[in-house]
Amino acid sequence: MNASTARSPRCYAIVPAAGVGERSGAGQPKQYVTVAGQPMLAHALAALAAVPRIVQTLVVLSPADERFEAALPGYAGWLARVGGASRAESVLGGLAELRRRGALDDDWVLVHDAARCLLQPEWVEALIDACDHDAVGGLLAQPVADTLKVGDAAGRVTATVDRRDKWVAQTPQMFRLALVERALTAMGAAATDEASAVERLGLSPRLVKASVANLKVTWPEDFALAERLLLTRG
Ligand code: C5P
Repeated sequence: MNASTARSPRCYAIVPAAGVGERSGAGQPKQYVTVAGQPMLAHALAALAAVPRIVQTLVVLSPADERFEAALPGYAGWLARVGGASRAESVLGGLAELRRRGALDDDWVLVHDAARCLLQPEWVEALIDACDHDAVGGLLAQPVADTLKVGDAAGRVTATVDRRDKWVAQTPQMFRLALVERALTAMGAAATDEASAVERLGLSPRLVKASVANLKVTWPEDFALAERLLLTRG
């Protein structure tokens, strides 16, 4: 029996926070923008820290990041300045760092975007419950409620897409370390999430319904919406 079968797989989390957030209009990396009294990143980390089955969370920063310690002064978790030019590269840097710190092939890794600051621990619990015994793993997601249009460069509709089997992918996304590492290495920078890379290997990640409130703060107007939601939920 080798080391990876001698013990139960552990759950780790990685929060890639090495992006510059160009679309947010914030003039600074969006993970550091204050929302409801704290940087967005701090809200996301607090939700992950409230999930007992996650043994450690690793924050992945850009090697050039000089803001983290001042923005989150009390942070006592794992941190690595191994971010890359794409989200996939940043996650791969984080996976290598987890290995250096003792994670093994069959451990679970939950990757969560720093920009999803409204994450609730119970959604993460539901994801772990649904994926813990799954052969592939899965992701939080939301069935599409709106009618979907395809638009052209001139801003005119060219088609309407059947929404019945469509889901919006969210994070966290939960896969075994070795699988997600292989998948992201194969797909590279084109992978905007872990699930798409795993799908390229011919596998079907499990969709776990979360909430429309698990939104990704991306556009300038999203900050005020996220703040209102955080303040009203108490
Ligand atoms: O840019 P986007 O909103 O897709 O970024 C999603 C997440 O990936 C964010 O948390 C961002 O900080 C992170 N990211 C990263 N390294 C990059 C690009 C994005 O860690 N090179």
